[in-house]
Amino acid sequence: MSVTQASAPRRYLDNAATSWPKPETVFRAWEQAARTVGAAAGRGAYREALQADAICDGARNKVAGLLGGVDPLRVAFPTGATLALNMAIHGLLKAGDHVIATASDHNATLRPLHWLAARGIIETTIVPCDGVGRVDPDAVANAWRPSTRLVVCSHASNVTGVLQEIDALADIAHQRGGLLLLDAAQSLGQISFVPRGLGEAAFGADIVAAPSHKWLQGMTGAGILWVRPGIDLELLVQGGTGTSSNSLEMPDSFLERMQPGTPDVPALAGLSAAVDWLESQTIEAIAAQCRTLAQGCASQLREIPSVRVIGPRDIVVPIVSFTVEGYDPAEIAALLEQLAGVQVRSGFHCAALVHDHLGTQFGGTVRVSFGPFNSIDDVDTVAEVIATLVSTTSS
Ligand SMILES: Cc1ncc(COP(=O)(O)O)c(C=O)c1O
Repeated sequence: MSVTQASAPRRYLDNAATSWPKPETVFRAWEQAARTVGAAAGRGAYREALQADAICDGARNKVAGLLGGVDPLRVAFPTGATLALNMAIHGLLKAGDHVIATASDHNATLRPLHWLAARGIIETTIVPCDGVGRVDPDAVANAWRPSTRLVVCSHASNVTGVLQEIDALADIAHQRGGLLLLDAAQSLGQISFVPRGLGEAAFGADIVAAPSHKWLQGMTGAGILWVRPGIDLELLVQGGTGTSSNSLEMPDSFLERMQPGTPDVPALAGLSAAVDWLESQTIEAIAAQCRTLAQGCASQLREIPSVRVIGPRDIVVPIVSFTVEGYDPAEIAALLEQLAGVQVRSGFHCAALVHDHLGTQFGGTVRVSFGPFNSIDDVDTVAEVIATLVSTTSS
């Protein structure tokens, strides 16, 4: 490692934003679908169109398995987690509903909720979190009202990686007749989704949304939306489904209703290959490998004076946020790249409310996030650059 190279090789440590590189099989499946399949799914009967259909069905079956063995016919692929979350929020909520969300959540849920609340359509309570982003389930129970319909929660914070007690939140919601929408963007692919009971989803969630391009190791272009049977969502988007095309009405089935428009077949081919890769390595092994790097990074950073690591000591999701006294997080991110090719994210990380609770409201944090293709050398490089900066500043 060197902290003085003018053009150091790229060290990508922004896997919470999007994973890179991808497993080679993911790149190949994606490229092969784009180059040789080259047909729209759900719309034609010729050979390649049928291959495109098979790619979508294959991805759906694999994701249903990954979610703990849910019904594949309830798994839709909007273009990303943001659209999936918006489809759930706008599709579920009615005028007068009250929603409980958390200060730890991402703008992908907080902004649509705010949009509805600002127009007087719904009411929201945002429960606070502690100094690492953790939410007390009792705060959710105490915020409950007769009009509460939904609890929205990020499974893992994209700023600190802290995990929420989703099982407890699901119980609180269900005991009171409400539903739980789980934003699994930072957990699916790092945490095994084991079904809670017969016919039940992991963690008792009623709706799960996630992207394929983060911890799942897939490409952008395919989000995941699973909705428990029995829950109907109003449509946020209408359009062609390749079926009942002579009618102006949207068809009835969940998949047709949740997936208007042409699916991103290469992204779904990549997603299938990614799930295969994760399962061949096992999620537990990949997660343990990434976690070891994050734990090493957090403990090396904690040793450096004037560095504040912001997050749980029991790291599960491999995200490490920190600040350095006397530096703007954006400066640290720029210096990490200039001095050692280390690419990280800095700022508020699309999480509008958490920083008041973390004490990072002035500039946010530097966020380092480790994937399966990082090494201990990356950890040492980050720590060495930061230690050098701190010692230069203080001398
Ligand atoms: C917790 C969380 N939720 C939702 C999203 C949105 O995912 P996407 O940008 O892929 O739609 C992100 C992305 O960073 C996230 O971290």
